[in-house]
Amino acid sequence: VTRRALRATAAIVLTLGAAAGYGTSRRALPVRAEDEPHPPALLSETGLYVAGQPGVVDPRNRPFAPQYPLWTDGASKRRWVYLPERATIDASDAFAWRFPVGTRFWKEFAFGGREVETRMLWKATSEAWITASYVWNDDQTDALLAPEAGVPGAAEIAPGRRHSIPARADCAACHGAPARPLGFGALQLSTDRDPNAIHGEPLAPGMLTLATLVEEGRLAPDRSDLVAAPPRISSRDPRTRAALGYLAANCGHCHERGAEIGANLKSLGYEDVTADGDAVALSLVGQPTRWQVPGLPDGASVVVDPAAPDESALLARMRSRRPSSQMPPLGTVIRDQRALDAIADWIATDLARARAAGS
Ligand code: HEC
Ligand code: HEC
Repeated sequence: VTRRALRATAAIVLTLGAAAGYGTSRRALPVRAEDEPHPPALLSETGLYVAGQPGVVDPRNRPFAPQYPLWTDGASKRRWVYLPERATIDASDAFAWRFPVGTRFWKEFAFGGREVETRMLWKATSEAWITASYVWNDDQTDALLAPEAGVPGAAEIAPGRRHSIPARADCAACHGAPARPLGFGALQLSTDRDPNAIHGEPLAPGMLTLATLVEEGRLAPDRSDLVAAPPRISSRDPRTRAALGYLAANCGHCHERGAEIGANLKSLGYEDVTADGDAVALSLVGQPTRWQVPGLPDGASVVVDPAAPDESALLARMRSRRPSSQMPPLGTVIRDQRALDAIADWIATDLARARAAGS
């Protein structure tokens, strides 16, 4: 993070304050009722680190790694969760866990070995999840609460490409409102971990999984069933499993059953791919899309076309980094080439074969 970016941050805060008629308040937070929970001004005040030792993670905050990570332009990420002592997660619905008040999640983003941003999700009251992002200082000693509007272009991550800290409203585009965690659930923490997950990370010692959560009595009611039969994407084809895992984690929080977005593609949620992955995979083939693939005649675009994989809307939009057509629509400025190669290959071989066998 450059000094200039931090000065820009301060300028945005001042502008917002002035625009709202609050004069030149220098507070990094918008004016609010004092008793409303709000994110602290510094990352070191959020409970992530041992008091007085910024950078030393408090052992009560437990590390975890979702088996299918989100692509953020090649950032390396670390994640932790704090679950209040003796409290349990209501996991009666395996795909919609309800977390105890006081739960906090953190996700740290580093580019080229430097910490750039740490995001936080905090269940502050029985209804509200507070979202916040902290921008790391030059000395890498602490991070400062980003303004509500985010910090466009906070750090250079590749020649001519800059990482932006999302606005708080952007968190809701993926996490929903009220927010829900997206990497800490039955499929993502399953012990039946996909060895072919695209950008998948191996579990490090001490990381929470479904098995450790059940063992430590953290899920209520008892969900030993999720340990006996760990959730997995239901396909016997390893490449279909990995491709759907990628799509579920990178697209499924918007493109899932019941989603209220203006798109035909609504089958990529964690629950969708766990219920019947092979059916989801086949349903993409020939599925009409409202979005026109450039160069194709009107009405001829489909989500996946095994006969001409490059003309699949799914790949065209994953390849694009034009704001009007790229997918995901936010949170990334560099295309995920490894995923593009793997998914193009999967379409051209496995989906083409499955299609031929099915018809
Ligand atoms: C483009 C979609 C997207 C946006 C925008 C986004 N997130 Fe996330 N976030 C995800 C996904 C998907 C995961 C889980 C996968 C992973 O961590 O790799 C996640 C994980 C997290 C986690 C770890 C806990 C969890 O949910 O698994 C935190 C904390 C978090 N996000 C906070 C935020 C905050 C705060 C913002 C806004 C400043 C934000 N996110 C914006 C998609 C998004
Ligand atoms: C933050 C939410 C969000 C995420 C994440 C997201 N999309 Fe989308 N997607 C949308 C919205 C909204 C539309 C409808 C408007 C449009 O076409 O731009 C859409 C439309 C599409 C369409 C056109 C479908 C149709 O029938 O209209 C395709 C294909 C698509 N997305 C693919 C993807 C893929 C592949 C990913 C993951 C790599 C992804 N999307 C991630 C929000 C999202």
